[in-house]
Amino acid sequence: MKIGSVSLDNITVLAPLAGITNLPFRLLAKEAGCALVCSEMISANGLVYKSKKTAQLLDSVPEEKPLSVQIFGTEPSIMAEAAAMVESSGADILDINFGCSVRKVVRTGAGSALMKEPDRAEALLRAVRKSVAIPLTIKIRTGWDNSGSQAIEIARIAESCGADAITVHPRTATQGFSGKSDWSVIAAIKKIISIPVIGNGDIVIPEDAIRMRNQTGCDAVMIGRSAIGNPWIFSQVLSLTRGEPVPCADIPVRFGIMIKYLEKSVKYFGEKHACHMMRSRLGWFSKGLPHSSSFRESIKRITSENEAKQIINSYMHAIDGIYS
Ligand SMILES: Cc1cc2nc3c(=O)[nH]c(=O)nc-3n(C[C@H](O)[C@H](O)[C@H](O)COP(=O)(O)O)c2cc1C
Repeated sequence: MKIGSVSLDNITVLAPLAGITNLPFRLLAKEAGCALVCSEMISANGLVYKSKKTAQLLDSVPEEKPLSVQIFGTEPSIMAEAAAMVESSGADILDINFGCSVRKVVRTGAGSALMKEPDRAEALLRAVRKSVAIPLTIKIRTGWDNSGSQAIEIARIAESCGADAITVHPRTATQGFSGKSDWSVIAAIKKIISIPVIGNGDIVIPEDAIRMRNQTGCDAVMIGRSAIGNPWIFSQVLSLTRGEPVPCADIPVRFGIMIKYLEKSVKYFGEKHACHMMRSRLGWFSKGLPHSSSFRESIKRITSENEAKQIINSYMHAIDGIYS
C-alpha cells in the first residue's frame, strides 16, 4: 500500500497516542513489524511559537521510518507554518488531527470540533497542502454527535484538497471512547473516496484486524490502545495476514520488550527522566500477569536503570517459576 509517495511494507499502523507514542515506544512497534508509526498529536501553536518541549516531539531516528507526524490546531496560516516545520524535521507524512475530543482541544476549535466546520476544514487543508510536499493525511471521527455523520463530507473535502489518505475512527466526538466503534462508517468512506482509507477502532485481538479489513475493505488497520503494553500485536497481525501461526508473546519475549523500552527511554531521555517515566509505564507490560500489582508498586520508586532492571529480572524469574 502507498500513501502518496510513501510505500508501506504491510497493512499495520500504530495510532497516535498522546503521552504514549514517543520515540522509544514507536521503535518497539517498528521492531514488532509495524509498517507506519505515528507521533502523538503536536500543537501547531507550540511549534510556531517555538516551545522547546513541543519541538522535541519532532525528534526522530532513521530506524523508525517512515514516520507520520500529527499536528492539531485551527488557524489555517498557523497550521501551514507548523506543517512546513514538520516537513523540515524530516517527517515522511503529515497528519492533521480531526478526531481529538478532549475539552481543552475542542474548545479552541481544533481536533474533532473541525468536523462541525467544513469551511474552516477546507481552508485549513488547502493552506497546509500548499505549504508541504510530503504526503498529507487526516484522522477523523464519525462526526460531532449522533445528529448526523460529518465524516462523509469531511472525507470528500479532504480528498478534493489533495489529502493522500484518511484514517477513520468511527465514534462520534461526544462518544469519546465509550460504546463500540461503528465499522460500517469506515466501509462507507472507503466506497466514496479513491485515496487509501485506514480503519481504526477496537482492534483488541489480532484477529480483529483481519475482520476489520474484510468487513470494511480498508487499506490498512491502525491499532491504538491494544498496542499499549503489547506492541507485539503488530507481529501477530502480520502473521495472520501471511497465513502463518500467530506467535504468542511468552514471558521472555514480554520481559525482553520491557527491558528494551527502558533502555531506549534512557538513551533518548537520559536516565533520570526515563526512570521517572518508567515508574508508571513499565506496569503496562505486566497487565494480566500474576502479582502485577506488587511489581507496579516496586517499580514506582525506581531511580536508576540498573535498579529497574533488577526489579524486572526478579519479577520475570518469579513469573517463570509459576509458568514452568
Ligand atoms: C491515551 C490516548 C491518547 C490518544 N491520543 C491521540 C492523539 O494524540 N491523536 C489522535 O488522533 N488520536 C489519539 N487517540 C485516539 C487513538 O489514536 C485511536 O483513534 C483510538 O484510541 C481508537 O483506536 P483503538 O481502539 O485502537 O485504541 C488517543 C487515544 C488514547 C486512548
